[in-house]
Amino acid sequence: MGSGEKVFVYEDLVKHKDRNDCWLLISGKVYNVTQFLEDHPGGDEVLLAASGKDATDDFEDVGHSDDAREQMQKYYIGEVDATTIPARRTYKAQTSTAATQQDEPGFLFKIIQFLLFDETMYPGRPPAS
Ligand code: HEM
Repeated sequence: MGSGEKVFVYEDLVKHKDRNDCWLLISGKVYNVTQFLEDHPGGDEVLLAASGKDATDDFEDVGHSDDAREQMQKYYIGEVDATTIPARRTYKAQTSTAATQQDEPGFLFKIIQFLLFDETMYPGRPPAS
């Protein structure tokens, strides 16, 4: 491992999520942004809200400039062991899938009901073949 680079575990993040000690996890890398809170153009609240978890989606959703990506190098303190990071969720995809799936059990149920009903209506009918 390179000079002074540390490997943290995901659980370490929850110990660094307040105004006096604020870390961000973005794309597997850890940034100590305590000194940057006041200067962040998007405000300190969003950074505090993004700490203590994987902030990759929050960071990317804003569409930060190359300049912002350059700036963050100053705050880099190490990496998080990838095996300790909970699986990333694609919130948007999940929301839309959940919305479309909502009717699905009902739909399936109707098919099953139809099949069963059909069987009850015509008991002992000869096999379809
Ligand atoms: C080390 C990490 C970060 C750095 C260095 C950084 C830097 C910057 C910079 C330089 C800007 C000005 C616009 C630009 O150049 O893109 C900005 C805007 C902004 N950032 Fe960050 N940012 C960081 C993390 C985050 C995170 C985790 C969030 C969470 C949502 C966030 C939310 C925002 C928002 C909302 C704006 C304002 C966009 C606007 O009003 O135009 N930033 N940030």
